[in-house]
Amino acid sequence: MTLSRRTFLAGTSASLGAGLVATAPAAQTAEAATPAPQVLRAATASLQLAPSGYPATGILAYNDAAPGPQIRMKQGERLSRRLENGLDQATSIHWHGMRLPNAMDGVPGMTQPAVAPGAGFDYDFTLKDAGTFWYHSHNKSWEQVARGLHGPLIVEEPEGAPDVDAEELLVLDDWRLRDDASLDPDYANIHDSSHAGRVGNLITVNAKYDLQARASSGDRLRLRIINASNARIFQLALKGLEGWVVAYDGMPLETPGRIENAIPLAPAQRVDMIVDVTADAGGEAFLIGLERNEGFALTTFKVGEGRRARRDAAPAPLPPNPLPQMTRVMVDAAPVQKLNMSGGAMRALRRAVYKGRNMTGQVLMDEGQFWAFNGMVGMSDKPLAQVARGETLRIPIVNDTVFAHAMHLHGHHFRERLPDGGFGPWRDTLLIAPSETREIAFVADNPGDWMFHCHMLSHQAAGMATWVRVSA
Ligand code: C2O
Ligand code: CU
Repeated sequence: MTLSRRTFLAGTSASLGAGLVATAPAAQTAEAATPAPQVLRAATASLQLAPSGYPATGILAYNDAAPGPQIRMKQGERLSRRLENGLDQATSIHWHGMRLPNAMDGVPGMTQPAVAPGAGFDYDFTLKDAGTFWYHSHNKSWEQVARGLHGPLIVEEPEGAPDVDAEELLVLDDWRLRDDASLDPDYANIHDSSHAGRVGNLITVNAKYDLQARASSGDRLRLRIINASNARIFQLALKGLEGWVVAYDGMPLETPGRIENAIPLAPAQRVDMIVDVTADAGGEAFLIGLERNEGFALTTFKVGEGRRARRDAAPAPLPPNPLPQMTRVMVDAAPVQKLNMSGGAMRALRRAVYKGRNMTGQVLMDEGQFWAFNGMVGMSDKPLAQVARGETLRIPIVNDTVFAHAMHLHGHHFRERLPDGGFGPWRDTLLIAPSETREIAFVADNPGDWMFHCHMLSHQAAGMATWVRVSA
């Protein structure tokens, strides 16, 4: 594997590129914690995303920050934020991965009205779980998230926090810029919608294309990594760092898993790692993204003199969150609701039901719709499944398409039911490769109407959305 520092401005023209001075910006440290504000105001902002030499990029941001302000609180505390809409289009905030009351879930037309320009909405709920979460727009999310409307939500363990020397919060994003560094405004184009979604040409971490951080040799770090991109799947690897995965999607693993292979991170997924800095003082360590056998630095750690000997021993698991009991016996006996994914390029829909009408693939295409779940395109009047509170439900997901999809369930975490009947880790978003069948199971302990959709946001917009009703 070769490690390059390409900046991923792959699509830019030589005319602009030729005039560029390829100097890296002044070293930035990865910590960017400002005191959490009580208001989140969505509005236009301007930010230097592309390397210096390019103009700033006009984006949408909460409180002028990209990623949005870091909200950092303790488990059991009450989060209360007023969304103010300073945009010229309606918006809302979804608190991704939070097991919260349905009315706070932020889904326009389902759990609240869309917040009109100039209007506001108060979100207020208790933080049940500790972990790494995020918040983002849930109205026209394929456009608003692509333009920058998202931020990290970190819920600390009140006790039993891991023994580490430092923590880095790393928000991965993927922007599609034009030659003048402005965002490509074609947010709902047919090609993205029917293929892999809006994959960008500039990857940033904490909105820096070349994020530099500091670490000391021998230190133990907690990395909280969030994939906030619309469609890009990262394959994460380490260099000069060695360690363990301790949580996925906010939920601790019962046993930390030693990192040996690349860790896939689909849109909306999070991973918490505890890593030891094995690079020597004066050297560098890296969080790497792998793509086609090439590695590129997502974060470069300048390694300084260490103060202590390396720990080496595996970290203790993070304290568990109050998740429902889910046993093999319960799951084996649970009702099964299959979900069949179809459509997209190369497997175009012939017919499917959209807005209550059976339509041909051609008519659907004219409507910008390319995907179906069980032959239904987009949100239907009836839920995929209706379950009583406390019931367990199994959903085998059959990916009958040639693209990967990242399925996200609102309001609950689920586990994959493995072919041998065992369970995968607790997650809120599962990546399903082309032609795969993967089954999830969850205890429907949170009453309300909950979306279940693909988090490749162009896919969600083009049909890959359904919902589950949990009756009280
Ligand atoms: Cu992170 Cu329905 O979304
Ligand atoms: Cu998808």
